[in-house]
Amino acid sequence: MIYDCLIIGGGPGGYRAAERAGHCKMTVALFEERSLGGVCLNEGCMPTKTLLYSAKLYDYAKGGAHKYGVDSTGATIDHKAVIERKDKIVKTLVSGVAAQMKGAKVEVIAARGVIEGKSANGFLVKANGKVYEGKHLIIASGSNAAVPPVPGLKEAVASGDALTNREILALKEAPKKLLVMGGGVIGLEMASYFNSIGSDVTVVEMLDRIGGPTDLDMTKMLQAEYEKKGIHFLLSTKVVGVKNTNVDVENASGKKTLSADKILVSVGRRANTADLNAQAINLYLERGAVVTDDQMKTNVPGVFAVGDVNGKSMLAHTAYREAEVAVHVMAGIPDRMSYRAIPAVIYTNPEVASVGETAETAAAKSLKFRVVQLPLRFAGRYIAENEGGNGFIKLILGSDDEILGCCMIGNPASEIIPAMAVAVDRRMTCKDLGHAVFPHPTVSEIFREAVLSQVK
Ligand code: NAI
Repeated sequence: MIYDCLIIGGGPGGYRAAERAGHCKMTVALFEERSLGGVCLNEGCMPTKTLLYSAKLYDYAKGGAHKYGVDSTGATIDHKAVIERKDKIVKTLVSGVAAQMKGAKVEVIAARGVIEGKSANGFLVKANGKVYEGKHLIIASGSNAAVPPVPGLKEAVASGDALTNREILALKEAPKKLLVMGGGVIGLEMASYFNSIGSDVTVVEMLDRIGGPTDLDMTKMLQAEYEKKGIHFLLSTKVVGVKNTNVDVENASGKKTLSADKILVSVGRRANTADLNAQAINLYLERGAVVTDDQMKTNVPGVFAVGDVNGKSMLAHTAYREAEVAVHVMAGIPDRMSYRAIPAVIYTNPEVASVGETAETAAAKSLKFRVVQLPLRFAGRYIAENEGGNGFIKLILGSDDEILGCCMIGNPASEIIPAMAVAVDRRMTCKDLGHAVFPHPTVSEIFREAVLSQVK
């Protein structure tokens, strides 16, 4: 049989592509060697969110609830039970994806797919000793945690002293002392969880800020909040050596050794291309990632790459959209990928969310812009539900009041940022958004407050 489409990888990029292709009446074979759902469902986004929700409830119970008139004296958290609940949720979600594949008539092959080469009709992929042929090929093989060449780190990962996102989400017992290497998204979310449940957490970050490209005022506030909760941050500090659970760090004041019970390695991710046999079809890679254009096409006609493997924006929601674009292009439906309005969220407590330009990126591009900042307390619902909260929003407005970007710190930023993603994506002005009606009372009303403050 010659399939219309072969897909390597069953994460958000691969399974969404398979589903779309199936619904577009294509015959599809999807290769997944581990579990459907990829990193997102099994060892990333979804498991982390279940842990963080338990932590949020516990945070309220142990400290915050009395501010709302609730007495929760004696609250405890059972980390093992939290992990068991996470496992149950992952199982449900994975079986949901399997059902989606069935519904779209996708053939799921539970094995690693390796590129064999080209054929007269398209491409060959080998799995479980069998060769499959397809007219098109979508590479959606994802990424894995980077383990940089820091002396001793590889050995610590092998022995289980150092953990990546995969292993830390399976820990049945919380470490008393956790050293987090890298203050990016994964580092901050895991630091937040383990701090909430009582671990002594230190974050070592080589830059002078946490949260990477997130708005600096917001990450400064986030850092201050977490310092109050007891997390230690060592900024402008690099991990230069690891011996078991002892970590050598270096900064402007010199070198010192920190000890912990476990180390989390969260210093970025690398595209999974090493085992693809990409050279069999002369696929062009740059720094290990498959190079794609805005239609997800690679240098090889008929071959597409979506999700983390193309290294453009390592987020599950980007992968979904890229997958749709790839399938549409394959099916002859006009479509293109745009990266200008992709929301980014750090699911800490408080949450930080942003979309589009920040003041820093707009300045770097020499755009004409101004910043409108408002406290979230201008939305009544925020006051009702965030006792003592001091979150805020920033809008980045261009010429003609076009909304170029938005960032916010405060709950529930992740749930309401999509409104601004639509505004940025559709190039709305303050007036356009001001004409939309938002439900009252919601925290999202802050967006209308902000834009209406600019409409004369
Ligand atoms: P990241 O790139 O967000 O952060 C890594 C941090 O490690 C950087 O701040 C970097 O300066 C620091 N670092 C690198 N080498 C270091 C060293 N030797 N010593 C100290 N610090 C060092 O990477 P992270 O957190 O591993 O996340 C990986 C990917 O997963 C990201 O692309 C992210 O978008 C995605 N992700 C997204 C989430 C979300 O949307 N909420 C959640 C989790 C992951």
